[in-house]
Amino acid sequence: MISPASFSGEAQPLRIAVFASGGGSNFQAIADAIAEGKLHAELKLLVCDKPQAAVVERAAKAGVPAFVFRPKDYPGREAYEEEILRKLREARVELVVLAGYMRILTDVMVQGYWGRMLNIHPSLLPSFPGMHAVRQALDYGVKVTGVTVHIVDGGLDSGPIVAQRAVELREGDTEDSVSERIHRIEHELYPQVVQDIASGKIKLEQLVRQEQ
Ligand code: GAR
Repeated sequence: MISPASFSGEAQPLRIAVFASGGGSNFQAIADAIAEGKLHAELKLLVCDKPQAAVVERAAKAGVPAFVFRPKDYPGREAYEEEILRKLREARVELVVLAGYMRILTDVMVQGYWGRMLNIHPSLLPSFPGMHAVRQALDYGVKVTGVTVHIVDGGLDSGPIVAQRAVELREGDTEDSVSERIHRIEHELYPQVVQDIASGKIKLEQLVRQEQ
């Protein structure tokens, strides 16, 4: 098991991997922030469980190596996660960034990158975990929702919170209109959080709960 991360803003860029299952706009925001010099990191690997996902094309365009797999080709979740873990270690990845990776993780990944794996979720957790978080918030009738970046602890969108931003809901809002505002905030927040970790401003080990 790797102990919780302690990055100290050294000269070397932080070696990261992004996991995604879909469009990959957050992947793109991170890749762009690196290219623009706003994020002192290297994108060593994209991990994707959907060969047809648009994020695979984005990785190819950005020149980022990808490990793309079909879960049904493996006997179980642990088996593909063991392979992912091998690839992460081969690439000496220091921080795993989940960005719309729509699979529950097993202990293989959670323990393998304990304290070194982030997720972004489109709600103010612990409200509205799981799928369709924006729709859940609209259906509930909340006035404020938002975005959460948290350390992954193996539960459904749970774990110590690293950063949050609020998004106010407006009269006439739809799932699309709110999702668009949330995405804009995610694209600013996620690269910024990763940069703050790379520079040592955010210390993940301080956020990891004592009991775990
Ligand atoms: C993002 O909005 C992210 O918060 C959400 O998936 C979207 C992926 O968008 N993640 C979850 O709902 C996790 N439970 P993207 O593929 O365009 O980056």
